[in-house]
Parts: sequence; structure tokens; C-alpha cells
Amino acid sequence: MTAPHRRNQILAELGLTPLWRLRPEVSNPNSTLTEANSLAKSIDAVSPANLTEQEFIDLDADWNTLQSTVSRCTACQLHETRTQTVFGVGDRKADWLFIGEGPGATEDARGEPFVGQAGKLLDQMLAAIQLDRGHQVYITNIVKCRPPNNRNPSLNEARQCAPYLTRQIKLIQPKLIVALGKVAAQNLLNSDESISSLRGKVHSHLGIPLIVTYHPAYLLRSLPDKAKAWKDLCFALNTMQSLS
Ligand code: URA
Repeated sequence: MTAPHRRNQILAELGLTPLWRLRPEVSNPNSTLTEANSLAKSIDAVSPANLTEQEFIDLDADWNTLQSTVSRCTACQLHETRTQTVFGVGDRKADWLFIGEGPGATEDARGEPFVGQAGKLLDQMLAAIQLDRGHQVYITNIVKCRPPNNRNPSLNEARQCAPYLTRQIKLIQPKLIVALGKVAAQNLLNSDESISSLRGKVHSHLGIPLIVTYHPAYLLRSLPDKAKAWKDLCFALNTMQSLS
């Protein structure tokens, strides 16, 4: 059986079609296959990231289909140790999208992002700019499964999960994305710059303005940087107001 044929069959068996569609011609000379995607393609697993950017047109999935697909995902090794996937929480038509790196132990147990100590601080940060997680705010992570021992997700794990986040972003259509911490910022911006050099600027992800600030878990350990995070939130608020 040819490779595309086999892949289609596996996708069908996993209930992932017609979510993934092939464009008529997939060999685009302008392909921007990243190293991570090449790595993903070398792994014999069916996953969103096994498709090139040219093959991956878009998920047509609605929220329920997407959430159920994520809950069954076995694309990377994180599925082996998760209690459950942590999809996201909040207003599905939010103007604000906050993106962290990945669930911790409490989130893995509860199935909701940012519900541990870092989550309490995030709630306080939101309250400081008159926001809360149920209204005009959606919160999710780069990876939907807990990395063991709270390690950072690997490039490949982030890459495998990226199409799910992309679809969430397309469904929400936020006005502004706030990347919480280095892992989120570097993955969303495809950058290896430090957080200090990424702060204080309006970047863009999928055409949506994106601002970088510190991760709340980092702020719990580094109280002096709370003032900088406050500055970032004010910057985000001003940016949002200029967009409205
Ligand atoms: N840290 C994150 O990045 N995300 C969570 O959901 C919890 C802690």
C-alpha cells in the first residue's frame, strides 16, 4: 500500500477524516517545513504535525469535535503519562487569549488550565486589568498534556500539538494573544530570543497581535519581576484599547 493511502486509512480509522484534507499538489517549492516538522514526519505516528503546512489546510472541526479529537490524541509521548488532556477554558468568543506552556499536576488532575498556584496568580493578574477567565478571556496552553515532572515541552511535542491550538485560535478569533512565558512565546513566534528581548513589543501570530509577558509560575519565584509583568499587562491593555 502506498504511503498516502496508508495514512488516509489510518486517519479514517482514528476518526480524523475529514478533518485533514490534502491539497491537490502537496510539493510546494516554497515549503517552509521546519526542523520540528521534519522530525515529526520521521516518527511513524499519525498526528496533525505529520502533515506539511501545504497538506494541512485547516481543521474544519467545531469545538466539540476538536475537543474530542484532542482528548483521544496519542501523537506524542505525553499521552502516556497524562491523567487527561487539558483543552482550555473560558469564553469561546473572547477578545483576549492567554497561552501558557502546558498543564501542571493540578491541571492534569482537574482538566483545566492554570488552576494551581500559578493559576491563582494569573487570576489576580487578570483581575488587575478587570478581566476574569469566564468573560472575554480564553486560557489554554501550547501542549494539552502534562509534561512529566513539569519539564518544558519538547519542540516535537509542541509541534505535534500546534494544529490544535491553531484551530482554537481560528475558532476564537481573539483580538490579542498574550504569551505567558518563554516556552509559549518562543513557540508562537518561532523564535529563540529571550523573554526580556521579546517583551514590550507587539508581535504577530496567525495575523493576530501578540504580547509577551512572564509566566505566572516564574513570577511566584521572582517577585521583583512582578512589576515588569504589571507593565506588560498595562501595555497589553493599551494595545487592546487601540485595537477596539
Ligand atoms: N503552567 C502552564 O503553563 N499552564 C498551566 O495550565 C498551568 C501551569
